[in-house]
Amino acid sequence: MQGCAYIDDRYVAPEDAKISIFDWGFLHSDATYDVAHVWQGRFFRLSDHVDRFFASMDRLRLNPGKTRDEVRAVMHECVRRAGLRDAYVEVLCTRGMPAPGSRDPRSCTNRFMAFAIPFVWIADPAKQARGIDLIVSDVQRIAAASVDPRIKNYHWLDMVTALFQAYERGGETVVLVDAAGDITEGPGFNVFALVDGTLVTPAAGVLEGISRRTVIELARAHGIPVREASLPVADLKRADEVFLSSTGGGVIGISRVDGVPVAGRASGAFGPVTLQLQQAYWGLHEDPRYVETVDYS
Ligand SMILES: Cc1ncc(COP(=O)(O)O)c(C=O)c1O
Repeated sequence: MQGCAYIDDRYVAPEDAKISIFDWGFLHSDATYDVAHVWQGRFFRLSDHVDRFFASMDRLRLNPGKTRDEVRAVMHECVRRAGLRDAYVEVLCTRGMPAPGSRDPRSCTNRFMAFAIPFVWIADPAKQARGIDLIVSDVQRIAAASVDPRIKNYHWLDMVTALFQAYERGGETVVLVDAAGDITEGPGFNVFALVDGTLVTPAAGVLEGISRRTVIELARAHGIPVREASLPVADLKRADEVFLSSTGGGVIGISRVDGVPVAGRASGAFGPVTLQLQQAYWGLHEDPRYVETVDYS
């Protein structure tokens, strides 16, 4: 496997990065993580990812034993050692193991890990060009009052259950609803819909994606009305355009919702707002205010 991992303060090959089955990160999903990408040798919005990672750890009372600068340095070093120009770079902090005989999370020694592997798309470019078929699941995203979705987490049983449902219904990916039946998010992405000329993305019950933030900022800069609000399923289904936002691919157009072409458009043909934001998103990857070059020397 191509890439480089960091565990127990050492850089190792990805296949050698292993944790104990007794780590609560594995046993209880008691962990948080973040994912940034490197595109053409440059990190995109690295500080924002590191800030979100530290905010998630603070909320979970996890301590990685590293400063922000040390975490950034490990991420850079994983990419440098792997020699990857386009990379998926993940940092994790797990609860670790409690003291022998204890079930008190305060007795755990938290663990920090990281890895860089080749870029992972939530849908590969060929699929993206064709357009993705999105299914609206009746599975509810875990309630925000139970697990705060702003903490990036591995509580994905709802997502995986919904994903199997989507495959059975002929779809390629899936979006989950909340208790009121409104749209939330899907496995690895936020959702946007252009409804009556305004771009709407769910306001609550979702991870505050860095790509979501980028899209909102770009929309404002381009004079496209944008709102964080509730997004009823009916609005998603009558939207003129629908797209996903994710570090795993940026702005990804949806061609069908529940098997019905978005706005009656042919598969693979996306609306002007999706295309404009997609172009602007990748354009920002050239902007020194948003990128940080990896030193491969
Ligand atoms: C549940 C969930 N929502 C949204 C996102 C998108 O977040 P970002 O744009 O920061 O990649 C992700 C990314 O992994 C995610 O896992």
